[in-house]
Amino acid sequence: MSINFKLVGQNVLDNSADAAVFFVTETKTLVKDFAEVSKNYVPNLKTIFGDTKFTGQKNKVVIAPVSLSNKNKIKYFIFAGLGKTKLTLEDYRRATARVIRSCSSYNIKSLVFSIPKASLFKTSLDKLVQESVIISQMTDYVFDKFISNSKKNNLEILLSIANHSKFKKDLASAIKTGEAVNRARNWIDSPPNILRPKDLASDAKEIAKKSGLKCTVFGEQEIIKKGMGGLAAVSSGSDNDCKFVILEYKAKSAKAPTLGFIGKGITFDSGGLSLKPANSMETMKEDMSGAAAVISAMGLLAELKPKVNIVMIAAISENLPSGSAAKPGDIIKFYNGKTAEIKNTDAEGRLVLADALSYAVKNYKLDAIIDLATLTGACQYSLGPFFTGLLSEHDSFTNKVKKAGEESGNFVWQLPLTDDYKVAVKSSVADLSNIGKRQYMAGATTAACFLQPFVGDTPWVHLDIAGTAFNVPDLPYYRPDTATGVGVRLLTKLALNWK
Ligand code: BES
Ligand code: MG
Ligand code: ZN
Repeated sequence: MSINFKLVGQNVLDNSADAAVFFVTETKTLVKDFAEVSKNYVPNLKTIFGDTKFTGQKNKVVIAPVSLSNKNKIKYFIFAGLGKTKLTLEDYRRATARVIRSCSSYNIKSLVFSIPKASLFKTSLDKLVQESVIISQMTDYVFDKFISNSKKNNLEILLSIANHSKFKKDLASAIKTGEAVNRARNWIDSPPNILRPKDLASDAKEIAKKSGLKCTVFGEQEIIKKGMGGLAAVSSGSDNDCKFVILEYKAKSAKAPTLGFIGKGITFDSGGLSLKPANSMETMKEDMSGAAAVISAMGLLAELKPKVNIVMIAAISENLPSGSAAKPGDIIKFYNGKTAEIKNTDAEGRLVLADALSYAVKNYKLDAIIDLATLTGACQYSLGPFFTGLLSEHDSFTNKVKKAGEESGNFVWQLPLTDDYKVAVKSSVADLSNIGKRQYMAGATTAACFLQPFVGDTPWVHLDIAGTAFNVPDLPYYRPDTATGVGVRLLTKLALNWK
């Protein structure tokens, strides 16, 4: 499916479209507010609002069929409720998504949106324009590649706004952003027999080529030679070689700071010899969501051109059991020389991240480093599907990430990461143990404690997206049993806002 967007002037009803969309806050004077619509298009508007008990409530959309003929052939008015007070951009996103969702059952193929007042959401008009576009595209996403005869509807969306030509750039960058989110989702949703480590690596390479990013890919032999014992151990059970992908974006200014983006890219996590139970394994194609997010965000940022340099690393592998697989009790050595005892082969994400993080801090002068990983079931249990876990020891970088999360719609919630927990990942036979000692519990925190020694003093934020990457319920711009593309919007905002 695809959406065609266009900016048009302020008078909504001057446009031809199947439906005109209005966003309304909760009020008792709805009919009066829409007297013109009622008079010229929908004489029974009052009855419709009454019958549907619509007063502009949050999460409610009412579709009023037009009964009077009109020159623009508008067939429906769509009223999207926003709720009463303290409206946020997120309320606008959700209302927009509900509007898009409502189209298919009425066979609506073109819409003209009346962009509401930005002050309602304490934001600016350019942000409303951008969110309209990004959220429409996200809502429109389906993963139907493998469904025979799946029908594709095209949608046209007109955004009606004063001084509309002022927003051309916002429109263009928002279209790219929506596409980048959906590109990440498409990789994540791709089944593990189709998206192998080499496939994700070659897609990354292709993006780099198209957008002018520097791209380096190490194969399994090079990974072993370079001493990346974590990634090599995780991959040892699989016949499909692991990949270490580096993408580099250079800002114009030679003095620009440099950010590191690191992603966990397990294209399938069976748990390895510490095999997962069948039901936990069912969705483990999602275990490369961190890599998908960083790769797609890089492709996007190459076009949006932030004023920071970015080095991106994706550590990509399968985690499978076999005669050559890593075993509980194995001791491995990472790129930075530290060692770990593998006590549980299902705690593989931290092993591949350890190599990626230490490679990044050793080979680049980074001002900050952020990693995204579907790392722990514990994080999913603590926070559920609506907040990504944030773990960090660096307050000023943390605040930037929180802000980027808030502004982008990829919300984060901080979990503790203090020295007290670090004892949990000490081992009696190696520098570290890949699982936390039982009394310390706090699985998301102890996972972060494992990673910490690999970043040294570089300001670092770890995002655990185990709960937010896949199958998020209720949010109307996502879909059941599919990926969310979490992280793409956050990373993009983070880079563009960097000061
Ligand atoms: N890929 C999983 C984490 C995960 C769980 C992601 C649920 C998405 C949804 C990760 O590799 C894993 O298995 N972690 C283990 C760690 C444990 C053995 C210390 C876990 O969380 O159980
Ligand atoms: Mg192998
Ligand atoms: Zn695992």
